[in-house]
Amino acid sequence: MPAPLPSEKALVPFVSVENMMRLVHHIGIETMLVELADVIEADFRRWELFDKTPRVASHSREGVIELMPTSDGEIYSFKYVNGHPKNSGQGLQTVTALGLLAEVSTGYPVLLTEMTLLTALRTAATSAMAARHLAPKGARTMAIIGNGAQAEFQALAMKGVVGTDHVRLYDIDPLATEKVARNLSGLGLTVTACPSSQAAIEGAQIITTCTADKQYATILTDNMVGAGIHINAIGGDCPGKTELHRDILLRADTFVEYPPQTRIEGEIQQMDADYPVTELWKVVSGEAEGRRDAGRITLFDSVGFAIEDFSALRYVRDRLEGTRFYQELDVIADPDDPRDLFGMLQRAR
Ligand SMILES: NC(=O)c1ccc[n+]([C@@H]2O[C@H](COP(=O)([O-])OP(=O)(O)OC[C@H]3O[C@@H](n4cnc5c(N)ncnc54)[C@H](O)[C@@H]3O)[C@@H](O)[C@H]2O)c1
Repeated sequence: MPAPLPSEKALVPFVSVENMMRLVHHIGIETMLVELADVIEADFRRWELFDKTPRVASHSREGVIELMPTSDGEIYSFKYVNGHPKNSGQGLQTVTALGLLAEVSTGYPVLLTEMTLLTALRTAATSAMAARHLAPKGARTMAIIGNGAQAEFQALAMKGVVGTDHVRLYDIDPLATEKVARNLSGLGLTVTACPSSQAAIEGAQIITTCTADKQYATILTDNMVGAGIHINAIGGDCPGKTELHRDILLRADTFVEYPPQTRIEGEIQQMDADYPVTELWKVVSGEAEGRRDAGRITLFDSVGFAIEDFSALRYVRDRLEGTRFYQELDVIADPDDPRDLFGMLQRAR
C-alpha cells in the first residue's frame, strides 16, 4: 500500500537562498530594509511580552556557534548562527545562519529559511531603527569601518530609514572597500573611499564599526570621536571581541538590546557591571530618553538579539503569501493516526 500523503501541517514552507534573493528583489532591497526596521521597531514596543534569554553560545578558538530563541506566546522562533572571523580568508562567510518559526499552540514549524542574507538585512534594519532614535537630527554622512559582508546593507538601511546620502569607507583591505564602492554605485549614495579610519570618520555624524576580529580591537580611540556623534558598533558581539576603546564608553550614552546578553558580548564587557546602559526598547516606546542633546555621543552597542530575528522571520512569512518564493518541505513525520508512527514507517517499506 502506498504511504498516505503527509498532512498540510507536515509540509513546512522552506525559503532557499535563491528564493530569498528573489523575494528581496521582488520587494526591493531598500524597501525591505525600511519595512524590516518598522516591524522590528513594532516588536521592540511589545518587548516585555517576549520570552528572553541570552543566546546559547558554543565557543571555539576559531569562532562561535549560537542558538537564539524567543517567543511572543503565539509564535516561537530560533536562529542558528555562527561567527568565524578567519573564514573569509578561506573563501567562506564570517556569519552564516538559518532560522525557524513555529506555532506555539501545536509546536509545529511554520517556516524554515536561510538567514545569512536575512541576518545582514535585519542587522542593518536594527542599526537604522536605533539611529532613527539616537543619531543627531538631519544626519547626512555616515562612516563605515569594516567593508565586509554587512557593509552595503548598513549603508542602504541608513539611507532608507535615516536619510543619509554620503558614505565614507575604510577597511584594512582596500579590495573590500573597492567592492563596497562598486556595489553601491548607482544606488543614490555618494561614496568616498578613505585611507584610514581617522579619515573615514571626518565629517560623519554616524559611525558604523563592522569589523571582524576575534580579539579586543581598537577600531576607534577616544580622541577620534568628537561631540554629537552616533556610533553604531556591531562587530563587538562576543566575549573577548570588541571594537571601541573603553574611554569612548566613559563619555557616551550607551544603548543596548538585552543587558544580560550585551554585558557578556558587547562593548560594555570592558566596563564594570554597574556601567549605566539604557535598553533601546524603552527609548522606542517612549519610556526612556534617547539623545539628550545635540552634543552627546550616543552608542548603540549592538550584539544582535533574538527578537530582531523573530521580527524578520515573521515579516518573511507574511511577505511570502501569494508568491512562489518557497518550496514545501516534508520535514515533519505526521502519521494519519498520531500514535502510529511505527506503522507509518513500516508502510513505507
Ligand atoms: N551585531 C549584530 O547583530 C551582528 C550581526 C551580523 C554580524 N555582526 C558582526 O559584524 C562584523 C562584520 O561582519 P561581516 O559579516 O561583515 O564580516 P566580514 O568578515 O565579511 O567583514 C569584516 C571586514 O572587517 C575588516 N577589518 C578587520 N579588521 C579591521 C580593522 N582593524 N580596521 C578596518 N577593517 C577591518 C576585514 O578586512 C573585513 O573586510 C563581525 O564581527 C560579525 O560578527 C554583528
